[in-house]
Amino acid sequence: MSQFRTRRIHELSPEERAVYATLKPERLPEHVAIIMDGNGRWAGRRSLKRFLGHQQGAKAVRQVTETAARIGLPWLTLYAFSLENNLRRPRAEVSFLMRLLESYLEDNVQRMIDNNIRLRYIGRTYDLPPQVQEKMRYVENATARSTGTTLTLALNYGGRSELVDAFRGLAAEIKLKHLSPDRISEEDIHRHLYTAHMPDPDLLIRTSGEMRISNYLLWQIAYTEIFVTDRLWPDFRGIHLLEAIADFQRRERRYGGLGEDCGEVEENPEQIRIAAG
Ligand code: FPP
Repeated sequence: MSQFRTRRIHELSPEERAVYATLKPERLPEHVAIIMDGNGRWAGRRSLKRFLGHQQGAKAVRQVTETAARIGLPWLTLYAFSLENNLRRPRAEVSFLMRLLESYLEDNVQRMIDNNIRLRYIGRTYDLPPQVQEKMRYVENATARSTGTTLTLALNYGGRSELVDAFRGLAAEIKLKHLSPDRISEEDIHRHLYTAHMPDPDLLIRTSGEMRISNYLLWQIAYTEIFVTDRLWPDFRGIHLLEAIADFQRRERRYGGLGEDCGEVEENPEQIRIAAG
């Protein structure tokens, strides 16, 4: 899927422009998803409290999002708060993250509009505190007319619970329309995901070095290229997004097919003698 992109390359920093110049504009990803990890470690390495790491992390969110908007990236999806974060982190940290989100939304709504960014959410957001939901709705509405990057925040999100919600929705549809379960297709499952309106991510970035998916977009990343960097999220900037895209462009995506350098294809498979054991 390719859509018209408005680019504002002149607004990139000189360093970002130098990396952008190495990219093939016709092969930019449509959708980048990011697991923003390492806020706590960033603070720990400086003998600071964890909340200061989250605060720096919020600044990184703004900077990376604005670079994404300048290069005309259509979809950017950030893992901002998982179901597991909600259940397993100390209450004080959860409540700080909620207040940080609220003030991020309040402080950045005008910048988002100026950058033509539309804000959306995925996850069980109905379980978030009511005043946070109210702010979320306000910014979603305020940015609804933006036509540039769609920034999606995954909030109170879990990949397995998204699948549970999708299957519940699909089961209800099957019952209502008296459909046969044999006819369920991948497309039917896709239609019931939180992400039904967007393409699957082309590139998944994870900061701070962990080689895990952490219950993020499980269905959607079947053919996504994964880029893991040791850099901690609060140190991640637009230039690092561009470097990850440069790495992505050097890869060959095969979707289960054959690539270049794959060996000669046998024209006559029946004539091959099989020597097995
Ligand atoms: C991981 O750091 C990050 C999170 C818990 C979620 C991301 C949150 C932010 C970037 C801050 C605010 C976001 C918005 C949208 C305003 P961690 O605490 O797991 O780091 P650690 O693994 O080093 O402890």
